[in-house]
Amino acid sequence: MKKLEKSIKNKKAKITIIGLGYVGLPLAVVLAEQGFRVFGFDVQKNKVKLVNQGHSYIADISSADLQGVLKSKKFSATTDKKILKLADVIIICVPTPLDKYKQPDITYIQSTVKEIARFIRKGQLIILESTTYPGTTREVILPVLQKSGLKVGKDFFLAFSPERIDPGNQKFNVRNVPKVVGGITPKCTKLTSLVYRSFLDKVFKVSSPEAAEMTKILENTFRIVNVSMINELALLCGKMGIDIWEVIEAAKTKPYGFMPFYPGPGIGGHCIPLDPFYLSWKAKEYGFYTRFIELGGEINDQMPHFVVTKVISGLNRHKKSLNGAKILVWGVAYKKDVADPRESASYHVIRDLWKKGAIVEYFDPYIPEFKIDNKNLKSIEYQPKNLKHYDCVLILADHSNLNYDEVAKKSLLVVDTRNAIKNRKFKNILWL
Ligand SMILES: NC(=O)c1ccc[n+]([C@@H]2O[C@H](COP(=O)([O-])OP(=O)(O)OC[C@H]3O[C@@H](n4cnc5c(N)ncnc54)[C@H](O)[C@@H]3O)[C@@H](O)[C@H]2O)c1
Repeated sequence: MKKLEKSIKNKKAKITIIGLGYVGLPLAVVLAEQGFRVFGFDVQKNKVKLVNQGHSYIADISSADLQGVLKSKKFSATTDKKILKLADVIIICVPTPLDKYKQPDITYIQSTVKEIARFIRKGQLIILESTTYPGTTREVILPVLQKSGLKVGKDFFLAFSPERIDPGNQKFNVRNVPKVVGGITPKCTKLTSLVYRSFLDKVFKVSSPEAAEMTKILENTFRIVNVSMINELALLCGKMGIDIWEVIEAAKTKPYGFMPFYPGPGIGGHCIPLDPFYLSWKAKEYGFYTRFIELGGEINDQMPHFVVTKVISGLNRHKKSLNGAKILVWGVAYKKDVADPRESASYHVIRDLWKKGAIVEYFDPYIPEFKIDNKNLKSIEYQPKNLKHYDCVLILADHSNLNYDEVAKKSLLVVDTRNAIKNRKFKNILWL
């Protein structure tokens, strides 16, 4: 342990990041900037190629930053598994999706760990960052690694530390969001904390990987429950003729005990719609039903349908039906200013619009092409003068730096699920 501790402290430790996605690539660059020799390992050859050419495909990390660490020879990417043997520290950042029954799919973690086990050697530290249910590090990873005959806490070290990145957030990023760390043994926790302390002031140690795994799920459960609660209130406000957006602004003036959440067409992204269901699945092992999570999921799942109903009501005012109507979906990303459509409500909304006979086009400056049910859609080029050709403009993502007053002025009808159009004087707008 002393040797590894010393090599982390003096930045001589070699670090391999497995999975160069939204989480892994920024982390790799930041660690390389600290002076560690970092290897990025990914199964996708095209990603590895782009990384080695200095092209960042992740908005939160600039190509200039990537090129900086490539030039200093502190970072390179590979598809060669042997890199796992060379590493003193291995950080796993692979996907953790749900299957079609909303059950955890941890096959990416399992296959990664199988590879690590093939090459494991004394003195390695393995950290899992992928979001997962409490118990994964100890129950799924540890037994596979211990098959090598090496002992955890003595020969090798294992911990969980959740990634808390918020894509597109201008203020908080991998460089300034505190890390939570829970190791299988105190030595595992200590070594893992040292890695993150190399670039962060605040690392919060918890007593076990389970506590760290649960922390991440608590954070995302907090979000799904609150966003769903505000979506439910938005539905009610709609019926009562009250503007939910005005109410939230008013409630925000309370200096304590209130935190604003905003309604929308449905929660998307790789975290909030998925992670809480990792917990609800695990909870059943204990005969426990996580009702808040299930209810949050249920309300969230209904939002796209509600949005389509709003479009139908809007068209109805103009004596038009959705069948045959020309709809411009504005923003297919799951939220503003990101190039990420994963789990976006736009998939459900567009499918429903198609099912009801609408003709759909879309505009998204961040997502030039969008694949849905084997159909490849291409973003239109936005020309304000063309807005009048659509029966309805449906705003699903309120990307910044676009003139929404102009959209309101030039469109026949707008359904605005994000309060992108602030001015209430327009009569052709239906807000959520
Ligand atoms: N995206 C976010 O905002 C976010 C935030 C916090 C936590 N997380 C969690 O972090 C994890 C990773 O998410 P992401 O958004 O970075 O995913 P991603 O899909 O962007 O990236 C994952 C990468 O892992 C690679 N990969 C898959 N299997 C592999 C294997 N066996 N060996 C090597 N590479 C492999 C993929 O090719 C891909 O490049 C997930 O568990 C997610 O829940 C994501």
